[in-house]
Amino acid sequence: MDRYCVFGNPIGHSKSPLIHRLFAEQTGQVMRYDAVLAPLDDFAGAARAFFAEGLGANVTVPFKEDAYRLCDELSERARRAGAVNTLKKLADGRLFGENTDGAGLTRDLTVNAGVPLSARRVLVLGAGGAVRGILEPFLGERPAALVVLNRTVQKAEQLAREFADLGEVRAGGFDLRDEPFDLIVNGTSASLAGELPPIDPGLIRPGHTVCYDMMYAKDSTAFNRWAAEQGAARCIDGLGMLVEQAAEAFLLWRGVRPDSRPVLDELRRLMAA
Ligand SMILES: NC(=O)c1ccc[n+]([C@@H]2O[C@H](COP(=O)([O-])OP(=O)(O)OC[C@H]3O[C@@H](n4cnc5c(N)ncnc54)[C@H](OP(=O)(O)O)[C@@H]3O)[C@@H](O)[C@H]2O)c1
Repeated sequence: MDRYCVFGNPIGHSKSPLIHRLFAEQTGQVMRYDAVLAPLDDFAGAARAFFAEGLGANVTVPFKEDAYRLCDELSERARRAGAVNTLKKLADGRLFGENTDGAGLTRDLTVNAGVPLSARRVLVLGAGGAVRGILEPFLGERPAALVVLNRTVQKAEQLAREFADLGEVRAGGFDLRDEPFDLIVNGTSASLAGELPPIDPGLIRPGHTVCYDMMYAKDSTAFNRWAAEQGAARCIDGLGMLVEQAAEAFLLWRGVRPDSRPVLDELRRLMAA
């Protein structure tokens, strides 16, 4: 059977095997998808062993940069992101690397949530691997302004320089004041620790600003709870991004785009249970 997997460490709670099983059932694809715990010091060994037979893999924390280094060929998006979350074995056995995180987030926002980026003022918090992956697709939507704020300001400035050929990215720290945005995306990992990036409430226009936390949880995340308290018009979590990045990977591997809506609904139902 055609074999796929997700590599991570830890990996026990990954939802990817369930998502891809549901995609395969829905599209009638015959395939197997497992979770693989790769050793922290030998991602390359685990990947080589899997790809002796396997056809494709997803890659999650902390291996996205190891996967990038392992690839023989990269998409332009993965090259810019410096990180790979999807591997595909090519016909000649070489490994192709893609990064579907940004396309997944953009699709979740624009298609699932109906939140346009085009001509909107967009604020992104954080400058780590996930944010690196979203800047290219975000700039492709031609926002009116794209601002990246990060705790370590130099990392935001570095990103702004690296993506300058695709459009203007303004960089700064969390001290930006009283400048409301249409959309705020939290791409920091602060929510993982139940913390908040210390941003000014004046960046949210009550009743208007949409807030999106890339993290997801059974209950609302710390960032989305805070945003709701400031009067954000909508607060969305990253579960849709997870499903959409998986759908992009499935399309790359199998040539079929699954319908993500019923899979997202099923995940929400299981998480609430
Ligand atoms: N839904 C999905 O499918 C999906 C996909 C990918 C990632 N994610 C989520 O996206 C988030 C970021 O992931 P990543 O891979 O980009 O992580 P990362 O590369 O480790 O980057 C972490 C970022 O968060 C910032 N940060 C960490 N703790 C902070 C705090 N207490 N206050 C303010 N800023 C803080 C860091 O700032 P410094 O640079 O100053 O250290 C950095 O910008 C995670 O929550 C992850 O779960 C979700």
